[in-house]
Amino acid sequence: MKDDNYRVAVYPGSFDPVTNGHVDIICRGAKLFDRIVIALLVNSEKTPMFSSSERVEMLSECFDAKMNVEVDTFDGLLVDYVIRREANVIVRGLRAISDFEYEMQMALMNRRLNHEIETVFMMPAEPYTYLSSKLVKEIALLGGSISGLVPEIVEKQLSQKVKLLKT
Ligand code: PNS
Repeated sequence: MKDDNYRVAVYPGSFDPVTNGHVDIICRGAKLFDRIVIALLVNSEKTPMFSSSERVEMLSECFDAKMNVEVDTFDGLLVDYVIRREANVIVRGLRAISDFEYEMQMALMNRRLNHEIETVFMMPAEPYTYLSSKLVKEIALLGGSISGLVPEIVEKQLSQKVKLLKT
């Protein structure tokens, strides 16, 4: 039987690649909810640097199997996935005012699609407020240091990817 007190939250995104900012939000979410499902969007309109299986592998490496964190993929509407997972909360990180407009638009559109699903915004630790997957990729491609910005596995995979792209 479904336990109404068991709170499952979905943390959706592209995670191309996962950064320490994402990890920070996931760890905060794991303290607030009984389970947090990291939902990686496959078949997005964006062309990713990493394949979905590479992104899932990197995300999975970041969390202890004993944690209440799960990595999954989804396609189609996010609200439909949230319902399939018997969750009712979407977690999104909010870094700066610049994120607000896009996030508000998505949260309100998702509410229109399903008014029983709430979006909860969480702020990462200050050092991650100016961090993004896009900047991390750009810095790595141009030979800069991304140490401290991404998990170690991502640092390794990114340097391999950059080498491959340059050969
Ligand atoms: O990491 P991102 O790219 O900011 O994540 C965006 C994501 C995956 C949350 C968003 O693109 C999404 O939910 N896509 C699924 C399709 C969908 O439900 N679209 C309507 C959103 S209002």
